[in-house]
Amino acid sequence: MTDARVVGVGMTDFGVHEQPLPELFADAAFEAFDDAGVEGADVDAFYLGNAMGGQTERDTHLAPTLATHVGIAGVPCQRYEDACATSSNAFKHAVRAVEAGDHDVVLVGGVERCTPATGLDTPEMTSVFASAAHRQYEQPTGLTFPGVFGLLTTRHMHEYGTTEEDLAAVAVKNHRHGTLNPRAQFGKEISVDDVLEGPVVASPFRLMDCCPFSDGAAAVVVTSDELAETFDGEPVGVSGIGHATDVIPLADKADLTATRSARDAASEAYEAAGIGPDELDVVEVHDCFTGAEVLAIEALDLVEDGEGGRAAVEGTTALEGRIPVNPSGGLKAKGHPIGATGVAQLVELTEQLRGDAGRRQVEGAERALAHNLGGDAATTVVTILEGMT
Ligand code: COA
Repeated sequence: MTDARVVGVGMTDFGVHEQPLPELFADAAFEAFDDAGVEGADVDAFYLGNAMGGQTERDTHLAPTLATHVGIAGVPCQRYEDACATSSNAFKHAVRAVEAGDHDVVLVGGVERCTPATGLDTPEMTSVFASAAHRQYEQPTGLTFPGVFGLLTTRHMHEYGTTEEDLAAVAVKNHRHGTLNPRAQFGKEISVDDVLEGPVVASPFRLMDCCPFSDGAAAVVVTSDELAETFDGEPVGVSGIGHATDVIPLADKADLTATRSARDAASEAYEAAGIGPDELDVVEVHDCFTGAEVLAIEALDLVEDGEGGRAAVEGTTALEGRIPVNPSGGLKAKGHPIGATGVAQLVELTEQLRGDAGRRQVEGAERALAHNLGGDAATTVVTILEGMT
């Protein structure tokens, strides 16, 4: 067994892109190659995350398509699909392959287009996303993802007294962080009143409680600790990964606020890394809706159960707070191109650990965690990275 290192990162701006998936992905992949100082000929495997290219763009068998476009066809390629947790699952399997000695230099990436540039409008894309809810029990009821997380958050409000103002504070914080990230979809600060005066999407969420539809791509190069020294990119260590699932139907979940898969994945990742939540310096969580960030920081044990709602209000999770959460702007402000999101979180954290995050840098960051969740909180991958200098 060897240890895995991230030696190169790249990502596109998140927002609206007119390019087809191969061209969009190539922009991120070539940036990652340049950052690592690798050539396509060095790469001996490709792990891709894309959740819905078949439904949105009539584009499947994407791993070899993209490999061809970036000049690495011939190596083994595979595509992963786990709803929004798609590309962090691809990353996990790439890391395992390097650790096992099966591959030496692996390209891992994610790409997705979800904006009207695909030709699909908001109701149509909402319907495509809803295909990740339970086919027999939930889709026939018309449940959408704002609705899924709206129900989970309503339960949190009922149990712990979390308020709409608490949720709005998450959006305000992440939009503020997004103004510091040149690749973020939204670069504008908002106020609590802006959030509270917005139209209701699915109670308790208003427009600005929601992440947007986004197009984008992200890529990383993974290699072994021995080979990392031979490349140019400053290496970042992969110290622990946890991956867990829960039953999909909300009606069957033992606890609506405890997000079982996130708790199980977090325990596995903390144990593998040999650290606890108090030793983290910076965290990216899956804030597809403001309430999702509240549930995530509790599941990761960054705050006590029931205190997630106050964390943004009190500044605990701000860039300059006790534990900065979503310095990138998160899904809320950076954007959420489904299959690209997991790897984009790892790009952000690699930059944080290298000290390359510019105006959103968390000073002295040495240990970082990414929490990437899929579907009705049914899949979660938690990844812990550490700086090597
Ligand atoms: N946050 C902040 N502003 C947003 C926004 C968001 N999520 N979505 C859109 N806007 C802004 C747009 O920039 C636009 O502003 P402008 O008028 O100044 O240009 C305005 O709001 C209207 O945008 P539009 O694209 O017409 O919004 P929409 O009503 O079609 O869609 C949502 C808004 C919130 C319904 C849609 O973004 C959504 O469903 N998001 C959730 C996606 C999702 O479920 N992802 C999976 C998570 S698991």
